[in-house]
Amino acid sequence: MNALAATNRNFRQAARILGLDAKIEKSLLIPFREIKVECTIPKDDGTLASYVGFRVQHDNARGPMKGGIRYHPEVDPDEVNALAQLMTWKTAVADIPYGGAKGGIGCSPEDLSTSELERLTRVFTQKIHDLIGVNTDVPAPDMGTNSQTMAWILDEYSKFHGYSPAVVTGKPVDLGGSLGRDSATGRGVLFATEALLAEHGKSIKGSTFVIQGFGNVGSWAARLIHESGGKVIALSDVTGALKNPNGIDVPKLIRHKEIGNGKLADFSDADRMSPDEILTHECDVLIPCALGGVLNRENAGDVKAKFIIEGANHPTDPEADEILSKKGVVILPDIYANSGGVMVSYFEWVQNIQGFMWDEEKVNSELKRYMSKAFGNIKALCGSHGCNPRMGAFVLGVNRVARATVLRGWEA
Ligand SMILES: NC(=O)c1ccc[n+]([C@@H]2O[C@H](COP(=O)([O-])OP(=O)(O)OC[C@H]3O[C@@H](n4cnc5c(N)ncnc54)[C@H](O)[C@@H]3O)[C@@H](O)[C@H]2O)c1
Repeated sequence: MNALAATNRNFRQAARILGLDAKIEKSLLIPFREIKVECTIPKDDGTLASYVGFRVQHDNARGPMKGGIRYHPEVDPDEVNALAQLMTWKTAVADIPYGGAKGGIGCSPEDLSTSELERLTRVFTQKIHDLIGVNTDVPAPDMGTNSQTMAWILDEYSKFHGYSPAVVTGKPVDLGGSLGRDSATGRGVLFATEALLAEHGKSIKGSTFVIQGFGNVGSWAARLIHESGGKVIALSDVTGALKNPNGIDVPKLIRHKEIGNGKLADFSDADRMSPDEILTHECDVLIPCALGGVLNRENAGDVKAKFIIEGANHPTDPEADEILSKKGVVILPDIYANSGGVMVSYFEWVQNIQGFMWDEEKVNSELKRYMSKAFGNIKALCGSHGCNPRMGAFVLGVNRVARATVLRGWEA
């Protein structure tokens, strides 16, 4: 099942639990606006190249739309649509005053030079500058984009509208980015995991972890879990997978990757393993932090973890969800588990609007407060509706957006 069908299915189930009427259910599913633009740039060799860019603005009942911009060869309008919708529920679960959006350009960023990437980003911004804005739609980095991409968008947007740092988040700190943004999603994963384990009488210390993906989310989650006394016994990235039953020395692995651009798979203090076995490796907690759809009906039956924390977006297919649920595996869903990034993006936007920079301690303590509050809200709904955390999170998010929609008189 593709990401859009899966997201719609979860939404409909939540709408049924909430007893939403058909009209509001339909109006919440239909995106506010879908934008498709051609971005033509001169390449470094003087030839012209054209790329298709998308921005899907899903819903703005609770505030400006918020979501990442992805540069990837397989950027697909259906997936962008699903991810935009997930952002609407995610910002509502987090209880931050935003709606949802997502965007992307179909390109392979690793095949473009820095100056080609800059030209492409500036042309894309020229095409959408009148549709994004501090109070309208606030982009952020996603796969294939980073703080430099946000700096180019900020600069190009500011040519049309005047200096507007709050138009994007995930910026470099020198241009108004927030301290703590880089680690925010991984730190949020840590707080979510702590809350779930505590509920089951367990703690990070004394538990074993397997993490798929060692990029921004996976490496920060691994580092913070290691610092908290957890044992990361297997890890993987696109280059391969590693295991060590005594626990991988995560700081040493990070140094290995940083020095001389080392490959994860070449790290000598752990044994290599097949990347196909990572998701079914024996552990207490499995944290997918790479691609969507990795847990599916082929492998879900073999998963041995007792808890899954969805660091990635949409890592669990609905069929896998059912199989895992029957096995008693508890899953913290993406729209809660990886919301630390958008929470700190919100703090960045607030700091830009205030013109006042917070210290990192304040960012991290506010993040913990928001993650704990959302966990409590989801848990309460799971109790009152007898549902799992994914449905608890969907019910929480959909209900908040539905209430805002009705209060604004938009349901007709
Ligand atoms: N960065 C954020 O703030 C953030 C916030 C919310 C959700 N997410 C989601 O988390 C996921 C990861 O995002 P990121 O920012 O860490 O991306 P990233 O590009 O920094 O890292 C991705 C990691 O996945 C690995 N990977 C790719 N293909 C793989 C494969 N086949 N097997 C194993 N590993 C593979 C890569 O090697 C890399 O280590 C994505 O689904 C993203 O949408 C990210």
